[in-house]
Amino acid sequence: MQSDSVETLEDVPAIIYIMKRLKTKRKLLKILVATMCFLGAAQVAFRCQKTSNQDEEKSASRLEVVQKWSPFHVIRNQLNSSLVANSSADRDERPQMQLRLLSTHAANQTGAFCLDGSAPGYYFQPGVAAGLRKWVIYLPGGEACFTLEACRKRTLQTKGLGPGTTRKLANTTKGHALRSADKTINPEFWDWNMVEAVYCDGFFFSGDRADVVVHSGRRLYFRGKRILHAIVADLLTRGLAQATDVIFHGFSAGAVAVLRHASWFREQLPLTVNFRVFAASAAFPMLRSVRTGRFFNETTLFPAVIMHHAARSVPKACLQEADPSGLTLKCHEPFGLLQYQSAPLFVAGYVYDAWMLDNSLEARCTPKTCRGASEREGLKNLSREISETLPGLLKPQDGMFIVNCKKHFIITEHNTWTAGVTVQGVTAAKAFTDWFYGRGNSHRHMDCVTFQCYPNPTCTKARL
Ligand SMILES: *[C@@H]1O[C@H](CO)[C@@H](O)[C@H](O)[C@H]1NC(C)=O
Ligand SMILES: *[C@@H]1O[C@H](CO)[C@@H](O)[C@H](O)[C@H]1NC(C)=O
Ligand SMILES: *[C@@H]1O[C@H](CO)[C@@H](O)[C@H](O)[C@H]1NC(C)=O
Ligand SMILES: *[C@@H]1O[C@H](CO)[C@@H](O)[C@H](O)[C@H]1NC(C)=O
Ligand SMILES: *[C@@H]1O[C@H](CO)[C@@H](O)[C@H](O)[C@H]1NC(C)=O
Ligand SMILES: *[C@@H]1O[C@H](CO)[C@@H](O)[C@H](O)[C@H]1NC(C)=O
Repeated sequence: MQSDSVETLEDVPAIIYIMKRLKTKRKLLKILVATMCFLGAAQVAFRCQKTSNQDEEKSASRLEVVQKWSPFHVIRNQLNSSLVANSSADRDERPQMQLRLLSTHAANQTGAFCLDGSAPGYYFQPGVAAGLRKWVIYLPGGEACFTLEACRKRTLQTKGLGPGTTRKLANTTKGHALRSADKTINPEFWDWNMVEAVYCDGFFFSGDRADVVVHSGRRLYFRGKRILHAIVADLLTRGLAQATDVIFHGFSAGAVAVLRHASWFREQLPLTVNFRVFAASAAFPMLRSVRTGRFFNETTLFPAVIMHHAARSVPKACLQEADPSGLTLKCHEPFGLLQYQSAPLFVAGYVYDAWMLDNSLEARCTPKTCRGASEREGLKNLSREISETLPGLLKPQDGMFIVNCKKHFIITEHNTWTAGVTVQGVTAAKAFTDWFYGRGNSHRHMDCVTFQCYPNPTCTKARL
């Protein structure tokens, strides 16, 4: 069902991440938000008050913190939301991305539902001028729900990264960085068709469970794979089948999803398409937690793969060659996924990815602040895996951009894309664009990764 009225949305997804990290530090959080509210110049549109959901207060989880302190600010305007593939090429006249929801009937027919049973959707902005047959298809971040209870909570989360429903989504969103329709920010791709899928399934667009799970009185649908398939089927009827260029792009959880599904997606497109994969903030090795000595794949990922029925939502080549059952997890770990990418691939990220450090390695420090021997060794192991193992997983035609910071958001916002962190003076935008158009010689931008080189002097330009 298409919507007719339109809203603009100032989204600053990055801030959600730091809020999650500050989950126990309510006071600090309040100070942070108050500061952001105060700093109007920071281009952060905040709802500078708590939302009213007081009864949920006691059971506040990380997700609820995200919800409560949502940075989304909704302003009504009167743009026409119908999809006109030939609108003015002037950037000021290009509308924002419009939400398209699958019709209830189509959702019913394909079984593609968000966690709460609502119809899935995506935001779309048609290409113009030279971009008419070129597509950026973006899967956003938003971690994952690894337990039934976390998935149940997502069904109540209507905004921010990784909602479990499309019921209250804003009708438009603004594309940032590579998805921006602003020529000054995104000079080489601004006129392409832009698609941003809504990540409402909670598990990398990978769940494939026919039954409905009831947990604490709520019906839960684990149908992410069907969502992606339904979206792609819809796009194919709207011009994607005539595409000349496709960039399948994801950040964080979205990048994991992109790596899981790129080979399937490639098969849906004409052979002649220039199909590229761009994965940001997801190339993590699987290391033991420095606290418990256990692996994230075993404690957290494996039970969730089983719960979502996602074992086989990985590259076919990996299932065939490495793990026919999909149950040994080899094909589910980011490094395993990287190994089985057949399309040209660009990987961007940080040596010390902050999410990886918090959740998998569980070393809540940096090369400058880690004191414990096992924490220091864990970080050394991580930097060795990133600098030595990762490049060996890539193909000769692949590119990378790895920066020696402890951060997570690298390409999601304008400031981190064109004016953010640099490796030997090169921004993420330039590294990616040079790789895409085959300009320059080396497309492997690996920062100096030693403890002595930490932090890269530009780390301060990345907000989170
Ligand atoms: C989006 O548009 C529809 C149809 O006009 C409207 O009913 C709905 O309230 C809008 N959504 C939001 C979040 O405002
Ligand atoms: C939106 O644009 C389409 C195509 O140009 C037109 O048919 C439709 O009437 C417009 N709707 C509104 C509400 O202006
Ligand atoms: C698209 O725009 C071009 C250039 O402005 C124009 O010549 C052409 O007729 C338009 N096509 C449609 C279908 O509106
Ligand atoms: C969805 O399908 C079920 C059973 O197949 C049917 O009972 C229900 O009415 C359908 N709902 C819609 C909105 O089509
Ligand atoms: C988890 O990852 C580690 C490191 O890659 C690996 O040794 C171990 O076998 C994995 N566990 C499972 C169940 O696949
Ligand atoms: C670091 O890697 C070495 C070699 O693989 C391993 O023996 C050691 O346990 C790792 N250290 C930590 C803290 O995980």
